Amino acid sequence: MATMKSLIGLINKIQRACTVLGDHGGEGMSLWEALPTVAVVGGQSSGKSSVLESVVGRDFLPRGSGIVTRRPLVLQLHKTEDGTTEYAEFLHAPKKRFADFAAVRKEIEDETDRITGKSKQISNIPIQLSIYSPNVVNLTLIDLPGLTKVAVDGQPESIVQDIENMVRSYVEKPNCIILAISPANQDIATSDAIKLAREVDPTGERTFGVATKLDIMDKGTDCLDVLEGRSYRLQHPWVGIVNRSQADINKRVDMIAARRKEREYFETSPEYGHLASRMGSEYLAKLLSQHLETVIRQKIPSIVALINKSIDEINAELDRIGRPIAVDSGAQLYTILELCRAFDRVFKEHLD
Ligand code: GDP
Ligand code: NA
Ligand code: MG
Repeated sequence: MATMKSLIGLINKIQRACTVLGDHGGEGMSLWEALPTVAVVGGQSSGKSSVLESVVGRDFLPRGSGIVTRRPLVLQLHKTEDGTTEYAEFLHAPKKRFADFAAVRKEIEDETDRITGKSKQISNIPIQLSIYSPNVVNLTLIDLPGLTKVAVDGQPESIVQDIENMVRSYVEKPNCIILAISPANQDIATSDAIKLAREVDPTGERTFGVATKLDIMDKGTDCLDVLEGRSYRLQHPWVGIVNRSQADINKRVDMIAARRKEREYFETSPEYGHLASRMGSEYLAKLLSQHLETVIRQKIPSIVALINKSIDEINAELDRIGRPIAVDSGAQLYTILELCRAFDRVFKEHLD
């Protein structure tokens, strides 16, 4: 599957280049919209950031009670092949390589505050982060602010609708794969994630149901009806997750220990033991990666068409501003053009 891996790598690069150019998937059909991404959706403190961290396998996201995630975080995972190289890089600080993931979390917090102030305001402007690691699968993930029902101290009343609109603008895109995060200790019938996912993806073909907090359900209750597909059936199977609790976070339980605990939880669970091989964060990461490859395969013809159109458009734009180019935007257009050509080449090799 070397070819599919290189395809996903190229997709990541093109998305990155598009973001540099200020194309956050706004009006009109753009390359960004043609390429698959994965977004997490759910109520506040449902475990969205925790799930993303588990999928990545590293601790680096701000988490906690209340409205912690206040700007979209566009997260590109790049698998490094040498087995050791691991670092993170922000688009707003392109030359700075972060080897320390605690510093990545701090930078996300600082960069959030830089735009929103220290208030509980939110902003639509995404933070873009790339993680290079031997321990990730190639994926683009988007962490989003939690859906909420009420404004809290100092927030304008409009915040409830503003957050919903922002989240909707990502998940309504036909190429967005939705991780609908629902805490199992609340009634799934009231899950904001499932409600919004159903609206934007009525057939459920691009929605993955994720039930978090299985470990803190009321005694005597379980989530089997959902996990075994009898209630809230989606086209893809639900995945149950046990993230770190706030106490674990305070005690700085690390990711490896957390994954081991999660695995043990499922393997020894009287309720979920028979589902153990299809539960947990690592399984979810695998499922997502496989799905992404399937989606890319299906989209090959339309992506090729779009890229050919883009190459023409970029060529026209380069003719207009003149080449060779000294200005930044020209250089970035040129990069995109090069990427599109490489992309086209890989597709052709793949199709031959
Ligand atoms: P977000 O607001 O949706 O991004 O949620 P976070 O990932 O920040 O988590 C909110 C709080 O719930 C944190 O204190 C987490 O430790 C806790 N939490 C998340 N998932 C689980 C879980 O599966 N089990 C337990 N016990 N706590 C969880
Ligand atoms: Na939170
Ligand atoms: Mg969060």
